Amino acid sequence: MSGAAFETIASLVRTRAGIVLGADKAYMLDTRLGGLMRELSLASLDALAAKLRAPGSERLAAAVTEALTTNESFFFRDGKPFEHLKRVLPRIAAARGPAQKLRIFSAACSTGQEAYSIAMVAEQLGLLPRLEVLGTDLSQEVVRRAREGVYSQFEVQRGLPVQMLVKHFKQEAGQWRVSPALRAGVRFETGNLLADLRHLGNFDVIFCRNVLIYFDAPTKSRVLSALADRLAPDGVLYLGGAETVLGLTERFTIIEGERGVYAPVVRMAAAG
Ligand SMILES: C[S@@+](CC[C@H](N)C(=O)[O-])C[C@H]1O[C@@H](n2cnc3c(N)ncnc32)[C@H](O)[C@@H]1O
Repeated sequence: MSGAAFETIASLVRTRAGIVLGADKAYMLDTRLGGLMRELSLASLDALAAKLRAPGSERLAAAVTEALTTNESFFFRDGKPFEHLKRVLPRIAAARGPAQKLRIFSAACSTGQEAYSIAMVAEQLGLLPRLEVLGTDLSQEVVRRAREGVYSQFEVQRGLPVQMLVKHFKQEAGQWRVSPALRAGVRFETGNLLADLRHLGNFDVIFCRNVLIYFDAPTKSRVLSALADRLAPDGVLYLGGAETVLGLTERFTIIEGERGVYAPVVRMAAAG
């Protein structure tokens, strides 16, 4: 692949998704884009890049971007955030009216394991009827899978305690389908974290985990600030284990002793 082809593809995913592809990631383009190239009978990444530079390449650009996302996810990933949520959600629920929905954002939700893990925590707390989880992801394919709520044996074996599997999933042709009760508390939409998030409304809790790692610092700052705008003053933000707000925004503060758990910094109205 020529340097120019790499540049075309790297700058496309950076502009569209915020994802930074360093030159050390060039090796993965062949594997990730191979299927698309075969579908379009394109012989090389140079041919693909040329097609992307031609007018009318919008759909191809979206498909290339989607193919270059990393969609790894699993149930109760890292454990701790869900233990923390279990402690904090009753406090948030008590602070709201009993009829008020508890809105939780699973940003960059991938195939939905995070959103369904949140729903399982709410169910344990008796809060499932009040729960409204919104999962969004740039990739249409993972959103389709999240909506379907069907997981392989391998996927349910990663992080899902067996009693929760039995309680919330039904076996179906060798796979596992999430129960209608859990499914009812969760909604999925395609969405780009770089776009305007205001139409999503406000949230009591935000999970934005294992996606900021792909962005450069200005993009991380911008996304964190947009999330701060959407979070309730007494809400909580969860980031992934390798992510932080430090040096990126002053709008969140770490909750002492809790790795990856942040509270919004409530801004005082100007005196006057
Ligand atoms: C590694 S997965 C993380 C899934 C889940 N949050 C977790 O921690 O298990 C990263 C997800 O971010 C999505 N993504 C990447 N850039 C995005 C963007 N700009 N807007 C929305 N989603 C994005 C990818 O499609 C992918 O599904």
